Amino acid sequence: MDRRKFLKITGLGLGSAAILGLGLNRFGIVGNKENYYLQGNYAPIKEIISEDKLEIVGSIPKELSGLYLRNGPNPMGSPNAKKYHWFQGEGMLHGVRIDEGKAIWYRNRLVGGDQSNTHVISHAKKIYAIVEAGGKPVEIDQELNSLTEEPFYGTLETGFTAHTKLDSETKELHGITYNFPRGSYEAHHVVVGKDGRINRADLLPLSSGTMLHECAITENYVLVFDLSITFSFLKLGTGYFPFSWNNDHQARIGLLNRKTNDGVVKWFNIDPCYFFHTVNAYEDQQGNVMVDAMRYQKLFDVDRNGPFTEFPPMLTRWSLNLSTGNASELQLDDLPAEFPRMHPDLNGKFNRYGYSLGTGSGPKPDFGRVIKYDFAKNIHEVYELDKGREGAEPVFIPSENQKSEDEGYLMTYVYDKVSDKSNLVIFNAQNIKSGPIAQIKLPQRVPFGFHGSWVPA
Ligand SMILES: [Fe+2]
Repeated sequence: MDRRKFLKITGLGLGSAAILGLGLNRFGIVGNKENYYLQGNYAPIKEIISEDKLEIVGSIPKELSGLYLRNGPNPMGSPNAKKYHWFQGEGMLHGVRIDEGKAIWYRNRLVGGDQSNTHVISHAKKIYAIVEAGGKPVEIDQELNSLTEEPFYGTLETGFTAHTKLDSETKELHGITYNFPRGSYEAHHVVVGKDGRINRADLLPLSSGTMLHECAITENYVLVFDLSITFSFLKLGTGYFPFSWNNDHQARIGLLNRKTNDGVVKWFNIDPCYFFHTVNAYEDQQGNVMVDAMRYQKLFDVDRNGPFTEFPPMLTRWSLNLSTGNASELQLDDLPAEFPRMHPDLNGKFNRYGYSLGTGSGPKPDFGRVIKYDFAKNIHEVYELDKGREGAEPVFIPSENQKSEDEGYLMTYVYDKVSDKSNLVIFNAQNIKSGPIAQIKLPQRVPFGFHGSWVPA
């Protein structure tokens, strides 16, 4: 199938034809025509705004100069409520420019091209809106406009991913990518060099059609997450969301040695599950691999419109024992949470701190809290947002000349139900419990979306 045609059908991106099957999920909710992911602050916005007069409550730290960007789905047409999936629709960027502690402007802009609606990253002085499953990364300028230049100087010959991992030593970006170029499933380990060009794209021995949303790196390995959600052309052809829970597929985590580059993946079987997002992975002193991620017991089984109504995502650690070849699993926290972030330079190294968005434990998520994890002490801190407010992925921005790993800021958009608008909210990451140090009031709401980045000036 032609890639554009595939993307148009699936909307991924990924999203797609979803028919919510009638059935009881864990919470006893019977599926119906109501689509949770088109309501409230999930609903798309139509207005494209540039605003340079922004009211600020509190004060923005003077050391902050840059651009906060976030991507997310924003279907501009009239999606079929029964079939719409949250991962579907045009990408829309929401950005705030900050200069030495002053908020200069807010803008939102649609992303051009193949519905690159999942993440926006910067690398080698370029900014790209990115998505998995074959959509081409779209270069974005500092004003949030989509450019038409070929991504990575025309060197990308495979699909790309919504989640790359920066090796802070080599300044290379690693990604596990997949695409559907000719109706077949191809997965690659792709490396973008520090010059912004693709310098490796190794075909992976993987044909299961697993949904490869994320990867992780350690000092010696790239991690491949071959989990319990798989793609089916049959489902796509019959109008269903093409990725769904697959009880028959053995979930496993693979280690690809990135030093020897031998193409051999060492697999560790794990219990059935899925996770979109890792906090991090690293090797312990014995050379075993630890990976922390937000684990779903099951999803995309009954609910074909989105991820949240079947089981809550829980922070879980897998330990991969290189000597025995076995994996063990341990739930680390009891607060449902998604969109984990941490220090941007610690991919593959032990991270003491992590941050996430609490999703609540009700039958439908509420994003009413920001969580900070201390993995050395095995504790969490929680900041409950004011009633009627819900946050988004908290991005950690390290201070200059850090003395401690958590010295820096958390930035996230927070939606306020009463005003039906959003704020860009900044926390001191060392003291989230005392609440925001600055709130930049935006002229409109920022729909719940996915991922973003701080692009330093
Ligand atoms: Fe993601």
